[in-house]
Amino acid sequence: MEASNRAIGLLDSGVGGLTVAREIFKLMPEENIIYYGDTLHLPYGPKDLNLVREYVEEIISYLIKEKKVKAVVIACNTATSAALDYVKQKFEVPIFGMIQSAAVRAVELSRNKKIAIIGTEGTVKSNAYQNVILEIDSEVKLFAKACPKFVNLVEEGKFDGVEVEKTAHDYLDFLIEAEVDSLILGCTHFPYLTPILSKIMGDKLRLINPAHEMALEVRENLSNLALLKKNNLKSSNKFIVSDKEKISKRFLKYGRQFLKLNELKFEEKNIFINE
Ligand code: DGL
Repeated sequence: MEASNRAIGLLDSGVGGLTVAREIFKLMPEENIIYYGDTLHLPYGPKDLNLVREYVEEIISYLIKEKKVKAVVIACNTATSAALDYVKQKFEVPIFGMIQSAAVRAVELSRNKKIAIIGTEGTVKSNAYQNVILEIDSEVKLFAKACPKFVNLVEEGKFDGVEVEKTAHDYLDFLIEAEVDSLILGCTHFPYLTPILSKIMGDKLRLINPAHEMALEVRENLSNLALLKKNNLKSSNKFIVSDKEKISKRFLKYGRQFLKLNELKFEEKNIFINE
């Protein structure tokens, strides 16, 4: 098959990366997607980043060798922080990550150069976002906060209500006091919380969804590489997870609505059987 007509591979620690798939669907509805969610090892956020890198390498190998994808999107901030530079050197297909384009956008949007990043412990501790932002503009004042409870709440299908509001205040009030004007949602689950975050932080705050910024980057790059799909066949999507038992049913119900899909079925394929 001509390379351009092959699928784009997406990977995440679970089904949170569907927020990234949504942005790809919106911008490139004609493309075929093969999504791999590593629910067996979910969550990646608190794990050692070397271990996360090994998982990511294995998944990318599978997507390239077995699924013959034309490009890979690391639809997970923790996985991008852990592995992007390494896998880009290791594999020949184009590989995209969550951080670069969101960092660029945040610097463009911020007027007072006070930018915050929220994500998992792994993402925040890796300094991946912070390093890119400071490379672009060393005068930016950065605030970074790991918000692991947000991941649990979203997995439980809780996007608003008293518990979510209290958690958001506990995590983020210091950013209001610091007069941060731009906030990067550096975790796949956080776009579900956009309404409550805007309410708490005020509507002047610019919220940056890295999934959207990355989808723009992917489209532009695939176009430059002549890798956008050329045939007129209807697009088809495949969703695979390493452990079906570990998918949060509640989250999926909302995920389907969020993605505007009538049906969202997962195949199970554990590629880590030698562990
Ligand atoms: N997908 C992860 C991320 O964007 C969040 C969930 C996890 O901890 O695995 O960082």
